[in-house]
Amino acid sequence: MRIPVIIDCDPGHDDAIALLLAFASDRLEVKAVTVVAGNQTLPKTLNNALRVLSFAGVECEVAAGAAAPLVRPLVTAPQVHGESGLDGPALPEPAFGPSGRPAWEAIIDIVRNSPQKVTLIPVGPLTNIALALLTAPDIKDNLERITLMGGAARGGNWTPAAEFNILVDPEAARVVFESGVPITMVGLDVTHEAQLYPEENEVLRAGGRVGRMVAELVDFYARFHPRFGFKGSPMHDPLAVAAVIDPTLVRTRALRVDIETQGLHTTGQTVVDFFGVTERPPNADVALEVDRERFIRMLIEAIKSYG
Ligand code: BDR
Ligand code: CA
Repeated sequence: MRIPVIIDCDPGHDDAIALLLAFASDRLEVKAVTVVAGNQTLPKTLNNALRVLSFAGVECEVAAGAAAPLVRPLVTAPQVHGESGLDGPALPEPAFGPSGRPAWEAIIDIVRNSPQKVTLIPVGPLTNIALALLTAPDIKDNLERITLMGGAARGGNWTPAAEFNILVDPEAARVVFESGVPITMVGLDVTHEAQLYPEENEVLRAGGRVGRMVAELVDFYARFHPRFGFKGSPMHDPLAVAAVIDPTLVRTRALRVDIETQGLHTTGQTVVDFFGVTERPPNADVALEVDRERFIRMLIEAIKSYG
């Protein structure tokens, strides 16, 4: 039986690749794609989600969500993803539009009515997920898990302490981490190890029209990462999808994670209690190791399958 999932995203180069991985998988049944502001403003991330799915020939409900974080002004990432949020390949305009309902309503409705428990895969700021949980706490009972890309046990990529998705909406992240729903945190500890190397991008480029488009996405996205001393480009969001398709790709540890919302230097930090000093029960399975080779093999096969 396929795992019913909803992907909540802010495309975004790695978000786009995550969507393609999810739709190629015969383990997943993508019930909806919900979109949030993050890497770029909402009109841009929404248009990008629709353009990528249209280009790949995928039809699915796409629902527009929050245009801004719960309480803060929006921070975007044009340095990484460009002015469009998806700079690089020349993608045609979308072949279809968003559904008429807001993202959180789509999430609530789909989760409430699913005969099987649903897994949420948020790979952007957690605003839509928090809004769904706050509006309809009953959905927690029909959620299998939230496997999210965000946070880090060590270090940050937007500030020294914070990863981008958590930094953009830390209040929403707090709602999610305190929800009681089982969480897998796929953070920088593993996504920085899950790099696609330049020679692997050439394999994608040779793999059909979708492969070529993905390679062009990576060409643009790769410009940002030499400053971190990386050889390749971290496949942050695809790794969260992959961890649902095959949880053995990452090794996790059950730990207490709290979200800093008021730090002078640390707002948006995922504070991970490795030594149990808070004496509070774990609330997340934190991914600490990844099998990069196997993950990249899965990703390349998935993209190639589009032809
Ligand atoms: C996360 O931030 C975004 O720029 C990426 O799409 C990813 O979700 C990595 O910190
Ligand atoms: Ca993202």
